[in-house]
Amino acid sequence: MTPWADPVVTGLRCTVCGATVGIDTPLSFVCPNASANDRHHVLQFESAVVPFRPFDDPNPFLAFRHYLGVDAFGAAIGIADQEREQIIRELNLAVMVTAGVGFTRTPIARADALSRALGFSTDGGVWIKDETHNVGGSQKARHLFTELIHLVMAERAGVAPWKSVADRPPLAISSCGNAAIAASTLAAAMKWPIAVHVPTFASEAVLRTLNELGADIRVCERRDTDPPGDPCVYRFREAVANGAIPFGVQGTENAWCLDGGRTIGWEIIQDIGHRTSRVFAQVGGGAFASCIGTSFQSIGVHPKLHAVQTEGCAPLARAFERALETGGARNAGPRWNDCMWAWESEPHSVADGILDDETYDWIAILDAMADTDGFPVVASESNVVRAHEMARSLTAIHVSATGSAGLAGLLHIRDQIHPDEKVVVIFSGIDRG
Ligand SMILES: Cc1ncc(COP(=O)(O)O)c(C=O)c1O
Ligand SMILES: [Zn+2]
Repeated sequence: MTPWADPVVTGLRCTVCGATVGIDTPLSFVCPNASANDRHHVLQFESAVVPFRPFDDPNPFLAFRHYLGVDAFGAAIGIADQEREQIIRELNLAVMVTAGVGFTRTPIARADALSRALGFSTDGGVWIKDETHNVGGSQKARHLFTELIHLVMAERAGVAPWKSVADRPPLAISSCGNAAIAASTLAAAMKWPIAVHVPTFASEAVLRTLNELGADIRVCERRDTDPPGDPCVYRFREAVANGAIPFGVQGTENAWCLDGGRTIGWEIIQDIGHRTSRVFAQVGGGAFASCIGTSFQSIGVHPKLHAVQTEGCAPLARAFERALETGGARNAGPRWNDCMWAWESEPHSVADGILDDETYDWIAILDAMADTDGFPVVASESNVVRAHEMARSLTAIHVSATGSAGLAGLLHIRDQIHPDEKVVVIFSGIDRG
């Protein structure tokens, strides 16, 4: 079958206030109605409905290029088809030189021993999508790569506010782990300066890697003048207010992270989609699960989406309940204040990468759960620990507790799943310990 060869994305639309942004708008990171005091806006990509016919290419950004927002953006600002492809190849080559790996489809396979241990039949089972060998050791770089492509395309077409490579403003991110490493890897590949805002409790292993990647590491202590919330986020926003480019994995700060994250869902569907009944995705800030959901919607497939949080921090599950009480899980964006607010008690779990006290990108996850008859799962801490142990003993994947937290969700509702079902769990990040 001939691959689909035209850009599919038509524009961006805020899922909170409904504002629209033209696909040809450079640096369209946030909704025009968002402000320094109001980050409760999320732009999402709108697409034409077309057949799902990817190119046969090991690089997902090339295989699914025409379904990506960045391809439509590049076309809209006058970059020819071949040149858009060339930019992706060029950036990927730079990543490969720096990271030793470039973007390649990640493997998905039935975990036989795990499926047996969990009582699945030979028809059913658990399929694991393994992101641990992706660029930067997690899924995060997928989100960041479309942010990078957007910047480079804007620069090449002469529509960025800076006029030469030498004038590029620095990149900025707030993160304590995988996203910081992924962002610093891409920045190093481009020799693009990056300021990384990390908490005082960032691990030695993470700090060492960031240092090796040449990031400008800024350890953020809480200041007396800070309101409640994450001081890293405040320092990050100050850097952006001073001209830095938001280069993180929160759709509320840069919507273009919600573009490339979808490649993971498209890969799953292409590899085993029609056989999948459920997908479990662990939720921190929510960009990851949002992208799984929107990737499915964009091609009209509907395995149940289960957003997994831990009992030590579950603002998304609370938002789902509140949304049902206030008009339904679908289109809950305008009800932000009724549904989503920061987790009051100190978040805690061994899955420490998903302890964002607020799920910034919650709206698309609720939409996707509503569309697929899915629901959130709040895993007990004992299941988070057990899932990590099972992952390490029954699979060959060196996954972190955060990366295997989706499996904790599966353990939690195992008795609701038929043994013949085919379920997908994403092992999203490598264990650095
Ligand atoms: C390995 C891993 N998986 C999943 C997540 C959750 O992604 P998100 O914050 O987009 O919900 C994170 C976030 O840090 C992560 O590091
Ligand atoms: Zn808005």
